[in-house]
Amino acid sequence: MGHDRRLVITSDHAAIELRRAIVDHVVAQGWEVDDIGPKTAESTPYPERGAEAARLVADGQYRFGILLCGTGQGIMMAANKIKGVRCGVCLDTFSARMIRQHNDANMLSLGARVVGLGLALEIVDAFLSAEFEGGRHATRVEMITALEG
Ligand code: RB5
Repeated sequence: MGHDRRLVITSDHAAIELRRAIVDHVVAQGWEVDDIGPKTAESTPYPERGAEAARLVADGQYRFGILLCGTGQGIMMAANKIKGVRCGVCLDTFSARMIRQHNDANMLSLGARVVGLGLALEIVDAFLSAEFEGGRHATRVEMITALEG
């Protein structure tokens, strides 16, 4: 697939600095990253940011999406309203690995007011390097998809 190393990233105003740091970090690892903003620190509603990135991931334009807001929670809730998106907030590397291995998450959400830079980068690495295990987990992910109606 052509989008295997492509990801989209966005945030609200609460996470601009951390978003930029994550972009630099993943670009250095060879990811092709589309940072869809916002570019300024003006207040930006997280539902709009999350939904825009989620639609791009759901459309198949990117392998993964990374979302950031103050807590990671609001933007995750918005993203999960888009069919085909499975997004989790992660505050630790174990969860970041598990949402890939067991839940086949295609989006990761982070809280810039919750995690520091070093941990945030490790969470991103754990998410991007883990593979979905399939098997019994695939059946459960299919059950999540079935709930979308
Ligand atoms: C913005 O102040 C804040 O509410 C937002 O970044 C986020 O934490 C919402 O979930």
